Amino acid sequence: MWTLRPYRSSDYAAFLELEIETALLSMDGATDEERGALGERLPDQLRTFYGFSAATGPTRFGGRVSVLEVDERYGGHLFTIEDREVFTGAERLWVTSLAVIGALRGQGFGRVLIAHAEAEARARGIQRLALGVAESNARARRLYERTGFLTTRLVMERNLGAEGPGPTRQT
Ligand SMILES: CC(C)(COP(=O)(O)OP(=O)(O)OC[C@H]1O[C@@H](n2cnc3c(N)ncnc32)[C@H](O)[C@@H]1OP(=O)(O)O)[C@@H](O)C(=O)NCCC(=O)NCCS
Repeated sequence: MWTLRPYRSSDYAAFLELEIETALLSMDGATDEERGALGERLPDQLRTFYGFSAATGPTRFGGRVSVLEVDERYGGHLFTIEDREVFTGAERLWVTSLAVIGALRGQGFGRVLIAHAEAEARARGIQRLALGVAESNARARRLYERTGFLTTRLVMERNLGAEGPGPTRQT
């Protein structure tokens, strides 16, 4: 039995743990030090960017977290904000993160979360869904491609530090 429901303060620990795992998958060019510091940085980032606290969830940009509950346990989440495409000004629902816990992957819940994002956009009167994904995250990219997303921009990066892991690319 599964359900999708709004975020509650008691979700915070599970939400944060899955956010950290997801963020680590998105840090293609990061150093080991940057990866190690993520657990400490992420709560601050969530607070500063999204006005996110454990008690309230996101409070900025129309942010919303929907929690996937499977057999009464935390199974994953969808975190969305409202956004505008920089050149056209078109409104978008931006998928800040989407994740399913490891034990439940490959059972269709990723698609469920995408379908929910689509329904949420329509309910808000928004015609576009958008997201960013690490180039190396093949599983997530396949899900997005199969659910109709097109690559519209690439983020290209050069690491100028002597000890950096080299160039990275993100879509
Ligand atoms: C990316 C992620 C959300 C995908 O979630 P998921 O639940 O595994 O995705 P789905 O199950 O819907 O689809 C994945 C695969 O399962 C298959 N599948 C779909 N429905 C299925 C079902 N009912 N039974 C069995 N398999 C199914 C799909 O065919 C797909 O495989 P394929 O693309 O090789 O054909 C998940 O892997 C995840 O949380 N990863 C870590 C966090 C992350 O990277 N998030 C994205 C950041 S941008």
